[in-house]
Amino acid sequence: MNDFIFQSPTRIVFGRGYVDKTGAEVAALGARNVLLVYGGGSVKRTGVLDRAERSLSTEGVDYTELGGVRPNPEVRLVREGIDLARKKNVDLILAVGGGSVIDCAKAIAFGVPYDGDVWELFERRTPIKASLPIATTLTIPAAGSEASGSCVISNDKLRLKRGVSGDVLRPSVAIMDPELTFTLPQYQTAAGVTDMICHICERYFSGIGAVPVADNIACGLIRAIMEAARQVAKKPDDYDARATLMWAGTLAHNDLCGCGRSTAAERRAGGWESHALEHEISAHHSEVTHGAGLAVILPAWMRYVWPAHPERFLSFAKDVFGLMPKDDTHDADVETITRSIDELQQLFVSLGMPKTLGDLGLMPDDIEAWMGTLHQNRGEVFGEFKPLTLNDARAIYQSSF
Ligand code: NZQ
Ligand code: ZN
Repeated sequence: MNDFIFQSPTRIVFGRGYVDKTGAEVAALGARNVLLVYGGGSVKRTGVLDRAERSLSTEGVDYTELGGVRPNPEVRLVREGIDLARKKNVDLILAVGGGSVIDCAKAIAFGVPYDGDVWELFERRTPIKASLPIATTLTIPAAGSEASGSCVISNDKLRLKRGVSGDVLRPSVAIMDPELTFTLPQYQTAAGVTDMICHICERYFSGIGAVPVADNIACGLIRAIMEAARQVAKKPDDYDARATLMWAGTLAHNDLCGCGRSTAAERRAGGWESHALEHEISAHHSEVTHGAGLAVILPAWMRYVWPAHPERFLSFAKDVFGLMPKDDTHDADVETITRSIDELQQLFVSLGMPKTLGDLGLMPDDIEAWMGTLHQNRGEVFGEFKPLTLNDARAIYQSSF
């Protein structure tokens, strides 16, 4: 087991009806005047915004609204939020929504104390050291931003999507009420499921061998996610299955699954190759849902890289899908590994995810634009499980059509 530093300080407040605790939780952090950030309107339609605001008022917490965060959030609204937060002198940023809303809230929170344009921090990509406190009331299990130390923002002008990190970006509290997720369209539920499985796989398929604690947590979580996802597809208001997905989404990305797998203690485990490849797609096509892009890219990446460490893929096949090679030949290994990747992809497709990038309305001609920004973001070679050259990346994109 490699050395690691694990810090997951977010207070998790998890249960039925707990959206109504938003005000009390925020007040307990000492906040009196907050910027409340939300998305394109789902929280208005579902009544979640009203409930969160009522609970703030009950506790005597003032709030200013900033709505309209789009999926794959963009830096312009972040800048607007920073100006508003400064003008109103807020003492906390509260996100009511999913990963996009939370990431917009995070960028506002660390943009306020920064003396310069916030995008400079995404260009620099050094760990963020100062931020206003962040609280979240989560409405979709997916990105894991409710407890992660990351923030991902797009810049449409530059066609870039960039992440920054830092432990100050981990929200102080995450209010997680699984009933809020009953209203999710199946497509978004499935995209969330794909994203959380991918967060686990990015760490599981890193450069080092077995780490039993991390690996058992990883494979156990994936099994629980798969079962709950199938259940929710049949019965969207199944509380226990929704609760399973919500909690799994947090554990998939709060770094628990990577403990002991990282090659440097202060670094997140894994090479994050599928995320690197997908982020270029949603940077250029903001209408592409992150998880839907991953549903195509993750299996394509797996098919390309497994020969670098087949033993890792054999463990995955056994511990996630119960697949064992029928004899001890290379051909049996190939068959078992291929079948496990097929089963994973089939799960995504059965939940409503695309199988090819063409299913997302993308064209092979788009690849060169992604390659340009991939090069800017990742350089000539990136990744860890099998370091990928730009030609490898191009081949993976091509195989995704
Ligand atoms: O905008 P509204 O109207 O609220 O609708 C949203 C949005 O259209 C809708 N939705 C959310 N909760 C709902 C609901 N609809 C009905 N009922 C509800 N309860 O779902 C859509 C997707 O929301 P979004 O916040 O975009 O989803 P997600 O949580 O998947 O976040 C995706 C973003 O997170 C980034 C992605 O790149 C992407 O920009 N990521 C952030 C990470 C992090 N900070 O740690 C890690 C991830 O790997 C990821 O890159
Ligand atoms: Zn992700």
